[in-house]
Amino acid sequence: MSTHKPIRKAVFPVAGLGTRFLPATKAIPKELLPIVDRPLIQYAVDEAREAGIEQMIFVTGRGKTAIVEHFDVAYELETTMEERGKDLGVLDSSRFTPGDIITVRQQVPMGLGHAIWCARAIVGDEPFAILLPDEMMVAHKGGTGCMAQMVEAYNEVGGNLISVLEVPHENVASYGVIDPGESSGALTEVNGLVEKPPVAEAPSNKIISGRYILQPEVMRTLETQGKGAGGEIQLTDAMARMIGNQAFHSVTFEGRRFDCGSKTGFVEATLALALERDDMGAEIRSIAERLLAE
Ligand code: G1P
Repeated sequence: MSTHKPIRKAVFPVAGLGTRFLPATKAIPKELLPIVDRPLIQYAVDEAREAGIEQMIFVTGRGKTAIVEHFDVAYELETTMEERGKDLGVLDSSRFTPGDIITVRQQVPMGLGHAIWCARAIVGDEPFAILLPDEMMVAHKGGTGCMAQMVEAYNEVGGNLISVLEVPHENVASYGVIDPGESSGALTEVNGLVEKPPVAEAPSNKIISGRYILQPEVMRTLETQGKGAGGEIQLTDAMARMIGNQAFHSVTFEGRRFDCGSKTGFVEATLALALERDDMGAEIRSIAERLLAE
């Protein structure tokens, strides 16, 4: 048994406008765009559930209520399906124990750090997880998901953990970047963090890949966090201020990551997951081969 407080809550910042996917996201939240037949947000929520997390906290904004509807009971749909003898199992992953889906609003887009801070009253005084749904982390066959790997590491070392991956050095300016210390297996000490540094000033090519386990003190740090990169209140800046006072490690995920915040990453994820599906993989492969040959 681990002596560290368990991770029971996960925060999902989903207030973003999704402008990169317009016009698709004019009336539909980006997080509900499907990868094959599940909305993007479902993958992140499933990943959290697999890691033993019970409460899902969505930081939403205007025009985002459909995300909450997705995790509710769809009475008319379910009744009609039942009457027609259809299998309701397809809806299982969108069901939750009453009270375990919680929403707070971020009224003004002021950055990721501000979005997380909006959840402070719900998070309370316990360590919690954050999952950015844009970053799709897919487990290897038979392996565990990114958050489950992080919780396993947390049970050993406690403190704060972020997931990292290596990108070509010229791409680091779009991300939070770590200054790595000593490594042992998948774990690396974090000596510093910088949000969206110019390429020449980046301390490494290891970027924060959208999964965090943080101690509640980060909320107090965010309280006094000024604006950073892009004029926004950055989570990375608040975490950087905690280094030295609290344990801080990064975990390199064993699995695959798709950047679903970009259109090409989204299409790549769709193709990769469709190709792996038992019910359609072979057909998609022959379609893809035909299209490439044309
Ligand atoms: C956010 C974080 C950044 C992280 C990235 C991962 O940036 O601020 O540190 O590397 O997510 O996708 P954003 O994509 O919101 O600009």
